Formats: sequence, structure tokens, C-alpha cells
Amino acid sequence: MNDKKGMGRGLTNYGDAGFSMFIRKAFIKGLGLSDDALSRPIIGIANTYSGYNACHGNIPDLIEAVKRGVMLAGGLPIDFPTISLHESFAYPTSMYLRNLMAMDTEEMIRAQPMDSVVLIGGCDKTVPAQIMGAASAGVPAIQLVTGPMLSSSHRGERVGACTDCRRFWANYRGGEIDDQEISEVNDQLVPSVGTCGVMGTASTMACLVEALGLMVPNGASAPAVLAERRRIAERTGEVAVDIAVKQLTPDRIMTPKAFENALRVLLAIGGSTNAIIHLTAMAGRLGIDVDLEAFDQMGWTTPVLVNLKPSGQHYMDDLHRAGGLPRVMHELRGMLHLDEMTINGKTLGENLGVMPDPWPQDVVRPINDPVYGEGGIAFLGGNLAPNGAIIKQSAASPELMTHTGRAVVFTSLEDLANRMDDPDLDVTADDILVLQNIGPRGAPGMPEAGLIPIPGKLARQGVRDMVRISDGRMSGTASGTIVLHVSPESAIGGPLGLVRDGDSITLDVPARLLRLNVEEAELKRRQSETPTLTIDPAATGYARLFHENILQAEHGTDFAFSRPDMTRKVPKRS
Ligand code: FES
Repeated sequence: MNDKKGMGRGLTNYGDAGFSMFIRKAFIKGLGLSDDALSRPIIGIANTYSGYNACHGNIPDLIEAVKRGVMLAGGLPIDFPTISLHESFAYPTSMYLRNLMAMDTEEMIRAQPMDSVVLIGGCDKTVPAQIMGAASAGVPAIQLVTGPMLSSSHRGERVGACTDCRRFWANYRGGEIDDQEISEVNDQLVPSVGTCGVMGTASTMACLVEALGLMVPNGASAPAVLAERRRIAERTGEVAVDIAVKQLTPDRIMTPKAFENALRVLLAIGGSTNAIIHLTAMAGRLGIDVDLEAFDQMGWTTPVLVNLKPSGQHYMDDLHRAGGLPRVMHELRGMLHLDEMTINGKTLGENLGVMPDPWPQDVVRPINDPVYGEGGIAFLGGNLAPNGAIIKQSAASPELMTHTGRAVVFTSLEDLANRMDDPDLDVTADDILVLQNIGPRGAPGMPEAGLIPIPGKLARQGVRDMVRISDGRMSGTASGTIVLHVSPESAIGGPLGLVRDGDSITLDVPARLLRLNVEEAELKRRQSETPTLTIDPAATGYARLFHENILQAEHGTDFAFSRPDMTRKVPKRS
């Protein structure tokens, strides 16, 4: 009655294990379950449905399909709720809450008896949070995503969240469309449940988890509303029973080579910059360091193959019709570790080996005819970012990739909001916009505000891109010449906080350089007069936990205490 499987896992402490099992079974039988059912492998299903989260609107259907798959394979499915995070319903930012969701997921997996767990997520931060939690809990886990929304149309033009959200809003700010039209656009951008339909963070993370091997093959791209999404859910349930029996834990799938595969795929799909932070955090839970300089080296030899917005033209439903991620990985196979084990018990190479022959399509390009010759993301260094920064070069303006300009500095989001549309703002299209204090600790939570709006007077002149630099993040659906994740962040004394209006800054992406052209002695002088962020003495609860434990971007902005190797490395003033 007290074995370490199924109902016998993680018994509540009453000082008598036999009684703990006895009372546990008594209560769950209140749901009508039999001893036969309770003797089967137990498959937990993490349910992140929420009335606030349209990206997860199909989860009740998916749970039903997962349960069917589990029962077909002889297991007992039990769903349980965890936190759900939607990008637009998370104050101050979903990134601030990602680690809370990871903790919730980890502890609920650990607290409740389950031999494996199906993680159902989708919206940007939910998938990394679930995998971070499952990796720490050490229980066999498989990811199911809700799948992308469909695309829609506005006045005959195809649209979808959220690259088009930003494009139309920029047109509205520039006076090219009026109140009536922007309202019409608002009705069309999200035509169904499901995650954003471009290669934003949600789609990127879905693809990367498939590349890692933690999802059934071709599980990333099927739209949320299609029957195929439900069949993927059923198959996920079946595999969840298999990994429960074999006790195939996440550390056996999420190996250093599997992360290399995921990084290679990130470059080839022109994926979201946010994925760097999430992959780093996921790897960190298993004590694996993601080497960002090695990632940059990979970028020189890995072309962008997927022609999806924001780097290209198409939408996720197009990628699915083109063959999904397996089609991409098949093109990339010469660069991947094909011997890596995946969740269905086969190697990546074995899974790719059963693909049908390719058919004509223009969404996934052949490796010798890419969308963009180098990987989508470049890793930058220099005195303005001693611990690194990144730029999504595939979504940047080619003429700005090497640029020296005069800094126009905003010290906070509030300062930006107050002045960006000021007609007297001293700014030209050749300047470089700098936004300070939106890093992990600064805002807090590293908001997706790195896509600094073009100042109103320049937007009305038709300016659509400028070099913009911050210690924050950017939505994966956004585009522009945007330098992000500058580390160390301004709020803890990083050089970004020392930039003043009129300073000269050089961005040289081919040389991987981000330089502040100011004398070292002057920077030292500024450092002594620049305050760093201190915690509000009245801060309690999660705010205090966050401030005292959050790591910088290069460590995935995870909590130091959640990584086995980082418990003493919370950065102080640099
Ligand atoms: Fe949920 Fe974009 S808002 S995936």
C-alpha cells in the first residue's frame, strides 16, 4: 500500500504511511474511482485554462483528448490546475510572473502523486515556466501546446496577432489610418482561440520544445482549432503513459546536445529573442550552461529557413501545411545531433527518417536557398554590454546594422511615455534611442518594452525604424533594429545606466559590437553619481522574493535559488 508508484508517491505526512495511503484513497474514491483505476500509472495533466487567456481557450477539449489517450494506453489521467499567464493580462509583465508559475508547477507536480505529467501550455511564458518546473521536480514530463490561432483578414489583407497588431498601431500613430479603421483591425487580429499566429515567442517555444525532444513529433504547429490538434493531444496522452512506465525523466531528454539542437533550430526559424532567456532558464534548472558566444558562432553557419512573420511573410498555419517543424529539421539535419533521445523513445534521426517526401511550398526554404543567410539572432559585446546583449538581425533594417549615432536617453518607461510624443523632443532619425531601467530588476520583470516607439514627430514623417537599445525584452512578434537584454542592467549599475543625451554610440552587428564612445574616466565619474535600485522597504511577498533573487538575462532571469549551481550569485552593483 506504500509503494513509490502511482497513488503511493509523495504521501502526505501523518507519521503513518499506511494511514496516509488509506485516507488518500478514501478521498479520491469520493470522485467515483475504483481500486482498479487507482492501481494504474497515474498521469497528471497540468491545466492552465483561464477565462483571461484566449491563447488557452481550447484546453478543456485538449484535456478530454489527452485523457482519452492516457486511458487507451492503460493509465489513469488526473488533471490539476496551475497558474495561467496571458501576455496582455499580466501586470506588470508576464515575465515577472514566469518564475512564480514555474514554482507553482514544480511544487504541484512534486506534491501530488503522478508517474508522469502532461504540461498543457501555449502563451509565451507558460511553456518555459512549465518545463522549468518539471525539470526541477524530476518527474517524467511531456509538453502539449494549445497551438496557434488561425489568421484572418482586414479589407482583403491577411492579418494575425501580433506582428500586425504592432504594424497597424504604428500606422495609426503615424496618422496613416483613422479611428474607424484601427477599430476594425482590432476586431480581426485574433480570429480564434490559440497562440499568436506568427513566429513570436509562443510559436518559437513550441518549435524549440519539439526540437528538444519533449513533445510528440510535429506537435508544435497544428492550429488550435483543428481536429489534428486533438489527435496530437490524444497521442500525447499515450506517450505520457509510456514515459511513466519507463520513468523517462526530463534530464534524459534535455541534455546539452538537445539544447544545442534547440538553439540551432531557434536560429533557423528566425525565432523570438525571448527564447534565449527561456532556454537558458530551462537549461539552468538542470545545471546546464547555455554558451551564448557559441550560440553566436552557430549563427554564422545557420541560415533562416522559415519565411514567417515577423522576419518573413507567412503565418503558423502555413508552416503547418508546409510540413511543420520536422520539415525544417529535415533541412537542418546535417547540423543537428540526430542521436538525441526524444520523448517517444526514438532518436531525433529516427523520427525525421519517417517523414514523407517534401512537396512544393514556399514557407520552409531549402538550406541552399534560405530566407536570410545567417541565423536570426546575433550576440553582441562591448563596453556598453560587458555581459552581452542580443539583436534579432533577421528582423532589423539592413542599413542600420552598422550605425553610429547620438543617444537620446529615456530613464524609465514613465519618462518615455511622457516625452516620446513631445514636439520639442530633440531627436532625428539618425539618433539612437536608449531606454534605461527596464531590466530584470529595474521595471521590474524585464517588460517587452524594448520596441521603443518611434517618437511621434518622426513617425509622422514616415520614419519606421531607428536603432533602439535597452535592458528589456521585445515581443517575438515585433521587428526593427532593436538591441535587447543589455547586461548588466541599468538598475544594478550597468553601463547602460551611464549613457547621457548626446553621447555617441556605435552598433556594429557584423563585428558583434555595442560601444559607448565615452572615456573610461568619465564613465567612472558618472558611476559614482548614478544611484542603483534599492528595494522598497515596504515590499513583501513575491515582490520581495523577486527583487532579492532575480538573476540577469544571461542566466535566464531565473531565481538563483531555483538553479542548483547559482544560489550565491544574485548580482549586486557591478
Ligand atoms: Fe498569447 Fe501571443 S498573447 S501567444
